Amino acid sequence: MDIVIRPETPADRAAIWDITKRAFAPMPYAGGNEQDLIDRLRDAGALEISLVADSKGRVVGHAAFSPAFAADGSPGWYALGPISVEPDLQRSGIGKALIAEGERLLRERDAAGCVLVGNPAYYSRFGFRPFPDLAPPGEPAAYFQILPLRVSNPDTVIGFHRLFYG
Ligand SMILES: CC(C)(COP(=O)(O)OP(=O)(O)OC[C@H]1O[C@@H](n2cnc3c(N)ncnc32)[C@H](O)[C@@H]1OP(=O)(O)O)[C@@H](O)C(=O)NCCC(=O)NCCS
Repeated sequence: MDIVIRPETPADRAAIWDITKRAFAPMPYAGGNEQDLIDRLRDAGALEISLVADSKGRVVGHAAFSPAFAADGSPGWYALGPISVEPDLQRSGIGKALIAEGERLLRERDAAGCVLVGNPAYYSRFGFRPFPDLAPPGEPAAYFQILPLRVSNPDTVIGFHRLFYG
């Protein structure tokens, strides 16, 4: 498939909302408001990196990266999510391409690391590792993972942007 990973433009806003809603809809762990979270992060200037997978002008995937916050005040932390791929096109490498480009851009910024809540069976292939002891309050510790970048041994609790909590 002919896919380009590129930053979002204002014209992508509706397509990102739509694909996120449809990708999360069947998921048992979905909160139901993932698509709105992206809009709220963007409106707050907190959508630091927003990548779309573009197939001949059609948005077929999206990944959001927002600032995350270390309890010890150390800078440079980010969170990945929500991430979505067009349901019919899942498991064909689009998610992988979005995460790889996101990681490249984070390294370019000298990011300390990137956190997420997700299935370790999937994210471990990208270098994310479970750090249950560093999960922020209220998050499922077993699913809290970090991709260490500049900081190779994270040792502080890392919290998500307040907009993740409504
Ligand atoms: C999660 C998601 C973004 C992954 O995107 P994708 O394009 O389907 O993933 P990829 O094809 O790049 O997957 C890369 C690898 O992970 C595997 N994989 C994909 N989804 C997986 C899953 N749910 N569990 C385990 N492995 C998975 C693929 O088989 C592939 O392995 P391979 O490289 O050995 O062939 C996509 O499935 C999706 O939109 N899901 C619904 C929304 C969602 O759950 N988002 C994440 C919430 S944490």
